[in-house]
Amino acid sequence: MKKLSMAVVISGILLMSGCYYDKEGILYPGTANCVPSASPSFNEEILPILDGRCNNCHSGNSPSANIRLDNYADVLIYANNGSLMGSINHAGGYSPMPKNSGKMPNCEIQKIQNWISAGKLNN
Ligand code: HEC
Repeated sequence: MKKLSMAVVISGILLMSGCYYDKEGILYPGTANCVPSASPSFNEEILPILDGRCNNCHSGNSPSANIRLDNYADVLIYANNGSLMGSINHAGGYSPMPKNSGKMPNCEIQKIQNWISAGKLNN
């Protein structure tokens, strides 16, 4: 009897830890199973990251710092002048972004870097 309840407790713990890991992708979308491709799509991968992390400030008619990041032509400006990567890498000389929060997950930063390295395609 004692052995049985011990087994129940142990399998309970195992099950619970299983759930914990399964839910990581739901709790932190974009962190689990994130493998940046060499050439991420602007519309399908880059814009959704910017919409989720940046565009409550950087979109619309009066965006923060007058910088819009909600369309290709504007994002291209800041990708070209270095401030996009400078700010999200928290590099010296740039305002760290997203403002008032920690760095974005490495995988998301890597996606944006790969999109730039692959030629900043409008795809
Ligand atoms: C809470 C609002 C807010 C969010 C979210 C935010 N920004 Fe900003 N951003 C600002 C403000 C305000 C400035 C003007 C500089 C400052 O006040 O730090 C700025 C400045 C910038 C600059 C110019 C930096 C420089 O030094 O030239 C860039 C590029 C930028 N943001 C990109 C981003 C990106 C990319 C994200 C998302 C990863 C983001 N921002 C998220 C408010 C925000």
